[in-house]
Amino acid sequence: MLRTVLGLAAQCQEGYTAGRTVRELPDASSLSSVVVCGMGGSGVSGDFLRALYRDRLALPLDVVKGPELPEFCGRESLVLCSSYSGGTAETLACFETASQRGCRIVSVTAGGALGERSGERGVPVVPLPGGAPGPRAALGYLLFGALGAIESMGLVPSITADLEETSRVLEDLAQELDPGEADNLAKDLAAWIGERVAVVWGADGIGSVAASRWKTELNENAKIPAFAASLPELDHNEVVGWSEGAGKGFVILALRHDGEHPEVAKRFPASIQIAEESGAETREVRARGQCSLARVLSLAMLGGATSVYLGMLRGFDPTPIEAIDRLKAVLEGGDR
Ligand code: PA5
Repeated sequence: MLRTVLGLAAQCQEGYTAGRTVRELPDASSLSSVVVCGMGGSGVSGDFLRALYRDRLALPLDVVKGPELPEFCGRESLVLCSSYSGGTAETLACFETASQRGCRIVSVTAGGALGERSGERGVPVVPLPGGAPGPRAALGYLLFGALGAIESMGLVPSITADLEETSRVLEDLAQELDPGEADNLAKDLAAWIGERVAVVWGADGIGSVAASRWKTELNENAKIPAFAASLPELDHNEVVGWSEGAGKGFVILALRHDGEHPEVAKRFPASIQIAEESGAETREVRARGQCSLARVLSLAMLGGATSVYLGMLRGFDPTPIEAIDRLKAVLEGGDR
């Protein structure tokens, strides 16, 4: 798992190539919406896409994390079905509805039923390499596979320069977070979190999506409950919960980056102070790079490595996800 987390740069490149080389992608003319369907580790690529492009795309981009496609999805919608295993019930249900409604579909998968059904129906597939230790460890494939395809369709401008910077930033960071490095921020953060409850904050947009990613990586790799919240929203509710004494046993990690809206950036110190007064311990970490892709993925890599080191510190193998497997088996009735 750690090797995969630290190998994110190569994975992004491979995913991009897979996305760019897909043939017979749907026509983008007269499209009115883009919808990404996917669950868990595969749905997260939709969250990243939305955070990265929602302010720059001429079309609305929605993310569906359930079995139902919104009513507005029709012939003028692009539906990206994202499932690393290709066997996820909710994503397959969206795929079926999208087929029935004549949506323009692209599947992003390493195979499974989604790959098979796409092949049977002539739906283009971004063919992801298999072998990642779980969908959450395939973020580079899933995100850049989807990005490569929508770039080919002309929906987003070329990401070549951003991908180059992102790869450089991630390669440098991977060296710093290598298990052989004693002065290692991810190990340090893991030890600091220890047995406490982690709450991860980020600014609306890429900060917030990185915070959610940290939360799920801490859940699945470190096997702990963890929570994420977004600024400025949390200043309108959660902040009240950081009342006197309530913060004991909690740590707050604020994920910061240089592209935060100035009004949102101003809120961090004031919000952190309130949480500290309640007894929570806090730390800030900063994204690397100039472009949004590098920033959000550097935060994601740091969160991934921190969660893996914390799992190991707590005596767990970070890779297995028994609770998810158990639920899928219990609910099994065909698609999982
Ligand atoms: O982390 C995980 O393993 C899960 O969140 C899965 O990603 C989720 O259950 C969906 O499976 P898939 O990504 O294969 O569609």
